[in-house]
Amino acid sequence: MYRVSFFNTKPYDKVFFNKLKDKYDIVIDYHRSKLTEHNVKLAEGSDAVVAFVNDTINDKVIDALVKFNIKVIAMRCAGFNNVDLEYAKGKVVVLRVPAYSPYSVAEHNMGLLLSLNRKLNRAYNRTREFNFSLNGLTGFDLHGKTIGIIGTGKIGRTFIDICKGFKMNIIAYDLYPIPDSDIKYVDFNQLCEESDIISLHCPLTPDTYHLIDENAINRMKDGVFILNTSRGGLIDSEALLKGLINQKIGAAGLDVYEDETDIFYEDYSNEIMKDEILARLISMPNVFVTSHQAFLTEEALVKIAEVTLENLYDFFHGNERKNEVQS
Ligand code: NAI
Repeated sequence: MYRVSFFNTKPYDKVFFNKLKDKYDIVIDYHRSKLTEHNVKLAEGSDAVVAFVNDTINDKVIDALVKFNIKVIAMRCAGFNNVDLEYAKGKVVVLRVPAYSPYSVAEHNMGLLLSLNRKLNRAYNRTREFNFSLNGLTGFDLHGKTIGIIGTGKIGRTFIDICKGFKMNIIAYDLYPIPDSDIKYVDFNQLCEESDIISLHCPLTPDTYHLIDENAINRMKDGVFILNTSRGGLIDSEALLKGLINQKIGAAGLDVYEDETDIFYEDYSNEIMKDEILARLISMPNVFVTSHQAFLTEEALVKIAEVTLENLYDFFHGNERKNEVQS
């Protein structure tokens, strides 16, 4: 039996991992806290750690894992921008779940777009108070509108399929366009200039950090909608806020936020929100924030548990590590 320290545990994680752990000969110690340099000591005595998107896997955490003789980190997610891969090289192996359900994220993304455009969140609150006025709830037909997709990987392409169903005009930008595909690729500036809606589906890397900054926003159409279910750091939040205040940006649907690490997944409803940018964004009627939940479907959780445990099983048994992250 191998022993695994599982950080940042939520009740829904336990449901799906507990169902499968015996099959993979693994004992799991669940920790509620995030993995940081301050509580990495919880992992002492384990053979591996399992971490998630908002854990911090920096040089200090990696040094501690090496000290505890832990040779593997299994990310139970696709993204790994929170891991210092350069530093991890040769010290710990990093595994991930490259794909679990592109449908979960793409469908949530369309949910954000429909809610923002047709003001469903506002309509819901109104009718609950028997306010049946329609003032301020005017939307537009998605049919025929131009949507710019940044990143045509698994999720971007799944979202393109959904947009096709709405008969939207789809353009895309990707650093590595798919050869011979029927996707109409344009360059980044053209995408900014021509899109009524811009949807982000590329990873957060040093190249894509603040891809949507003041310059990019200035190029966009007046009233543009911006959707981000990818990573918060892709958007300069201050520039986004400015664009919303001066009404350059018509609406923003955000499942991620660049400073979400200490905020998302926790209940702050009894406290004063200290992040002023997030508080201001949430106060706006044309901003819809969800708490990094786009992945959260049953199908995705089953797949995450299966692939994470299989990754660890393969590592422990010397099998091929098909989901190893290379720096
Ligand atoms: P993927 O790896 O299949 O596709 C990413 C695409 O982005 C690729 O086509 C790649 O060529 C492109 N790309 C890379 N660098 C680029 C750049 N500098 N400019 C433009 N395009 C670039 O990834 P997948 O599965 O489609 O996921 C996309 C992102 O969604 C992930 O990186 C992750 O951050 C995010 N995600 C969010 C979730 C959520 O719950 N909100 C859940 C899962 C993923």
